Amino acid sequence: KLRSVVRGCGSYLPEKVLTNEELAGLVETSDEWIVQRTGIRQRHIAAEDEPTSALGIKAAEAALKAAGLTADDIDLVICATSTPDFTFPSTASVIQAGLGITQGAAFDVQAVCSGFVFALTTADKFLTSGSHKRALVIGAETFSRILDWTDRTTCVLFGDGAGAVVLEAQEAAGTNKDRGILTSHLRTDGRHRDKLFVDGGPGSTKTVGHLRMQGREVFKHAVSMVTDVIVDAFNATDTTAEQLNWFVPHQANKRIITSSADKLGIAPEKVVMTVEKHGNTSAASIPLALCVAVNDGRIKPGDLVMVEAMGGGFTWGSALIRW
Ligand code: ACO
Repeated sequence: KLRSVVRGCGSYLPEKVLTNEELAGLVETSDEWIVQRTGIRQRHIAAEDEPTSALGIKAAEAALKAAGLTADDIDLVICATSTPDFTFPSTASVIQAGLGITQGAAFDVQAVCSGFVFALTTADKFLTSGSHKRALVIGAETFSRILDWTDRTTCVLFGDGAGAVVLEAQEAAGTNKDRGILTSHLRTDGRHRDKLFVDGGPGSTKTVGHLRMQGREVFKHAVSMVTDVIVDAFNATDTTAEQLNWFVPHQANKRIITSSADKLGIAPEKVVMTVEKHGNTSAASIPLALCVAVNDGRIKPGDLVMVEAMGGGFTWGSALIRW
């Protein structure tokens, strides 16, 4: 039996930092309002000449280095993004070429903020089927390019960045018996598609468009949706909240994260929180947070890590990983 084991992770944040104080100069808002409602204090913003692929390439290079691997070792590249460089080719194709990978397959997955969990699950299916050996799973976003910078209800929430993990198909035996992705659960309910969307695209306005959101509606559904798929993961693996070492949720909003952890009985010290510094980076938020917790020594080999996300669609999902 094959399992998808995490070999390494890497991330990249654009150099430019935009603080709440600076935002208060653009729209009528305040540091106090933003921190109190969301927990966000700053976010990173990509430079003019930094498309999503450029962020993804840097994160992927860091992940390969951490894994002790090179481009030649990778036969699958999956990029989760809602802010692609082009309508096509996929951002994964651009990243693959940028890394110098010429073998295997590369494609994008589009599930907005849940994109990384969807991409991770997709890669897991390829690897555990035996068809592919090593996957780069990337979450890369430049939401700054689809924000309406005159709309204070949305522009304060998001940031740019990228994160990546290298997964490897390994035999689930010996010391590896319990390692890797243990279970994952994905859901979509398109009836909610108008609660969080971009009002552009080739099939509508033929422009790129801007992110539009019914914030209260998103908030109302978020906690119950993510807790449902986490309970699914607990049930599928006979695991309890106490057994988790780390909870690495999608970083949308501090209040959603703490309410979900509370409801599930996950202790606050097990929650990895980066929203304060990164804002909501959509599909990039989970791999960015994973990297922070790996690099500061919190997540260690053998740890049980739960990731979860919810986003536009609505889409939502969870994955339980033995690191
Ligand atoms: N600064 C100051 N005031 C603001 C701002 C702002 N940036 N934005 C909105 N307001 C005002 C509103 O205009 C409103 O004023 P009014 O009462 O005079 O009309 C007041 O603040 C309250 O607005 P609400 O939208 O009701 O505020 P709420 O408490 O719901 O907080 C928020 C808004 C933070 C967006 C909240 O609904 C939320 O967190 N929703 C979840 C959305 C989210 O995280 N989306 C991310 C994408 S989805 C995902 O990743 C899961």
